[in-house]
Amino acid sequence: MSFAPLQILENLMPTKPRVFITRTIPQSVLDSLKPHCDVHVWDADTPPSRPKLLDELALADGVMSMLTEQIDKEALDAAPKLRVISNFAVGYDNVDVDAATQRAIPVGNTPGVLSETTADLAFGLLLAAARRIPESQQYITDGKWETWNPTTLLGTDVHGKTLGIIGLGRIGYAVAKRAQGFGMKILYHGGSNTDFAKRVNAKKVTLDKLLKQSNFVSVHVPLNDETKYMIGAEQFAQMKPNAILVNTARGGIVDSDALYDALNTGKLGAAALDVTDPEPIPTDHPLLTLQNCLIVPHIGSATRETRQRMGELAAENLLAGLNGERLTHCVNPKVYKMG
Ligand code: GLV
Ligand code: GLV
Repeated sequence: MSFAPLQILENLMPTKPRVFITRTIPQSVLDSLKPHCDVHVWDADTPPSRPKLLDELALADGVMSMLTEQIDKEALDAAPKLRVISNFAVGYDNVDVDAATQRAIPVGNTPGVLSETTADLAFGLLLAAARRIPESQQYITDGKWETWNPTTLLGTDVHGKTLGIIGLGRIGYAVAKRAQGFGMKILYHGGSNTDFAKRVNAKKVTLDKLLKQSNFVSVHVPLNDETKYMIGAEQFAQMKPNAILVNTARGGIVDSDALYDALNTGKLGAAALDVTDPEPIPTDHPLLTLQNCLIVPHIGSATRETRQRMGELAAENLLAGLNGERLTHCVNPKVYKMG
């Protein structure tokens, strides 16, 4: 047998694992991966097409996915070499975790590093809806600001009111800390960390009670089979007149049609959404015709600092998976118990 010199060289140097990153991420994170991986980046502002994603997965040892990519059974079947899925997000409803577990593929996410940042936005949305901030700017640009008026653009107080947190996890807890500073009474439903509850003096109640007693309701549960459309017509009917709903979790937790009806009929005071169903929300969607519905385009974790930290954590998970080490944050640790 005879080898060409180049082939000998290739045989001596182990080939780097190939990874697919489904969107541009902070450059320093990309640079940190390059010595260890053969990095392929989908370098565009929109997601790769489904065929492109499947083509890349066919060759990939690892993938860093965004919440816009469905990593489902079909995608996993197309990925015979895949050893790790590192989701650039805390939520992972875009990944079929059971299917990944069956294939012994660890799935990583980025909890913790974005909790405070997301809570900043949730509280910002709450304040903006309560005090009608976007509408007030519109009032000026519409040329309506002619004088000071005692009854114009009246909102509702935030301080001293009751905030109901659905899902007192890390983000819900960070929102509760902010609410404490505003002297709010805090109720919560879901989330089993009693230490969080104690620290912010939050009272555990049933969902019914939370809906009936809260002036503001903020959603912080993950999207899964149990939480899909958990806030619908029945729930809106229980809420206080003029209550304000804030959703920075996932659009699919709230029934958009029921939300439209509740807002349009004045049953609900206002909604402030960072996430929608469908997402992105089409520009002709009925919710966008309502003055009392504030919508921003899924920017909960969108600060330079936090996207950097998410990138670093996602890279850490990715490299650990490629090296056969335990991921720093693994959502299916069952894979480590399998033979
Ligand atoms: C964003 O929505 C995330 O889950 O990180
Ligand atoms: C996310 O980090 C949460 O647990 O709320």
